[in-house]
Amino acid sequence: MLLKTKNLMKAFGGLKAIDKVDFELPAGEIRGIIGPNGSGKSTFFNLVSGVYDPDPGSYIEFNGHDITNEPPHKIGALGLSRTFQLLRLYQDMSVINNVMSGYHTRVKYKFFDAVIGRKKIWDQEKEIKDEMMELLSFVGLADYAELNASELSGGQRRLLVLARAIAMKPKLLMLDEPAAGLSPVNVDNLMKIIMQLKDKYGLTLIIIEHILKVVMDTCNTVTVLDHGQKIAEGTPSQVKDDNAVIEAYLGKKMNDEEMRKALAV
Ligand SMILES: Nc1ncnc2c1ncn2[C@@H]1O[C@H](COP(=O)(O)OP(=O)(O)OP(=O)(O)O)[C@@H](O)[C@H]1O
Ligand SMILES: [Mg+2]
Repeated sequence: MLLKTKNLMKAFGGLKAIDKVDFELPAGEIRGIIGPNGSGKSTFFNLVSGVYDPDPGSYIEFNGHDITNEPPHKIGALGLSRTFQLLRLYQDMSVINNVMSGYHTRVKYKFFDAVIGRKKIWDQEKEIKDEMMELLSFVGLADYAELNASELSGGQRRLLVLARAIAMKPKLLMLDEPAAGLSPVNVDNLMKIIMQLKDKYGLTLIIIEHILKVVMDTCNTVTVLDHGQKIAEGTPSQVKDDNAVIEAYLGKKMNDEEMRKALAV
């Protein structure tokens, strides 16, 4: 398993934001995480990426390493990259430099390179820049490379956040609501990009998303959270037909017709 949690718990005061979650993700999968507002989805990401410490008794393993109480930079260096629900970009930095910052978070110059001299560093920097430009073309932002991030549209900023996360060359990429606020055309574009990511960059993905169409069309498996607990897991079509899932979303039992409408994808 690339990622595994056992008995994962996090309480804020009396509120169990994540309640005894066992989770297993094999390499190569695209996993969706869905659940109503406040069900613990972002908290799950924050625990796995080390932003929050889990409560005692929890266990988290990534790529064979126990990362239960590791800080974010160590977990990042092991190959886990994530985006945040609220966009975090360097607004006054160019698009290309935002992406380069993702790269440099992960890969530091080695001492030897510094000794070899400036020419070598310059070559290396050029190589990285070419690679980052290729990444920008992949997400459709190559023409905007020299603009400031603040000059991009909302949809373009979402693509930039994605590009920067990929620039870290992770093994696992976790996206928190990547399609939030996008127009339907932009959602479709993003979905195409996400589906190519796995093959092009050899990534395993976890996607939190409210837009069910995104999850249903892109994910191999879906995990459903409600009140911090895992209430269902399966293929998109299995999950869609799960009565507990429908109830969690709408708070009531529905007849078949209502159910089909609620989860129309
Ligand atoms: N830092 C925090 N301090 C206190 N309570 C928190 C904190 N972070 C999350 N919570 C609470 O934990 C619960 C789960 O929150 P979380 O953000 O994980 O939900 P979510 O499933 O991502 O919701 P949404 O779909 O709205 O993004 C909520 O009740 C939230 O208020
Ligand atoms: Mg959230």
